[in-house]
Amino acid sequence: MKETITPNALIGGDCTLYLPLIETESVHLILSDIPYGINFDEWDVLHCNTNSALLGSSPAQVKAGSVFKKRGKPLNGWSKADRDVPRQYYEWVSSWAGEWLRILKPGGSAFVFAGRRLAHRCVCAFEDAGFTYKDMLAWEKDRAPRRAQRIGVVFERRGDFKNAEKWTGWRVGNLQPLFEPVLWFVKPYKIGGTIADSVLENELGAFNYDAFERRFHSSANILKSARFNSDFGFHPTQKPLRLMEALIELTTLENHIVVDPFCGSGTTLVAANRLKRRYIGFEINEEYCKTAEERLERSIEEEKNSLFALVQ
Ligand SMILES: C[S@@+](CC[C@H](N)C(=O)[O-])C[C@H]1O[C@@H](n2cnc3c(N)ncnc32)[C@H](O)[C@@H]1O
Repeated sequence: MKETITPNALIGGDCTLYLPLIETESVHLILSDIPYGINFDEWDVLHCNTNSALLGSSPAQVKAGSVFKKRGKPLNGWSKADRDVPRQYYEWVSSWAGEWLRILKPGGSAFVFAGRRLAHRCVCAFEDAGFTYKDMLAWEKDRAPRRAQRIGVVFERRGDFKNAEKWTGWRVGNLQPLFEPVLWFVKPYKIGGTIADSVLENELGAFNYDAFERRFHSSANILKSARFNSDFGFHPTQKPLRLMEALIELTTLENHIVVDPFCGSGTTLVAANRLKRRYIGFEINEEYCKTAEERLERSIEEEKNSLFALVQ
């Protein structure tokens, strides 16, 4: 008989190998900050590594002795390797999106943090897997690095003072990236049924409007979530605990099952535990998995202590 994964579980390893071990239509919510495919780190390189601009290097870069291990060089748009990156990202997402659909209960949601640049490919992969694309929420951050280089300074360094003056005030790069998309997908509820039937049958399909308003003092789809000291230091792309709690509370009830296949330092799992939801998480990197384990242990301990304080 095939072994199945039951909550509460945190598993170290490749989620694509373990997702098939989760029972069909047993999960209420999948909430995940998936790799964005923008070469943030080695785990974020989902395209072919011979790419000229990311991780690999073009003949010109090899000659200049530079290999881009991290994000740093803009896509040039003319090399085939660059143009292949979005499609390769779509293929990667498609390789597991069908499993997400299978394990979710009808009417269940999937919230996906996806990068601004490739989110559209993620949407297509989820739609093609059978999900309904419900909305794009925006997580508005309290801070973000500015990544725009003064082009006039480049001309100045070249000794081209005429153009340095002409292009004063102009930059290359991006505007300050202050928001991140959170894609909201739902698994279609039963054929011929209604949302109301789905809510009664699976406790899924509606969302907790009041709880959301209490947290954000607004019902707008812009999530303004400040980050506290504890929201840093566990993972380079750590998400705020309160933001994950808000998304869990939006679509689930106590005891529901929340899955995060790319859980990093375990923020989603800790949030689920704090809200008395059950959880299943996967993380391929041993170090992050250990951090997630420790954070979860602390959260469980805090929970016990608060219960103990209540009965005293
Ligand atoms: C964007 S990070 C998640 C960070 C998380 N939100 C947090 O607050 O710590 C994505 C994580 O997915 C992990 N990962 C990448 N591919 C994976 C796979 N196939 N299976 C499981 N984890 C994977 C990476 O190691 C990385 O830690």
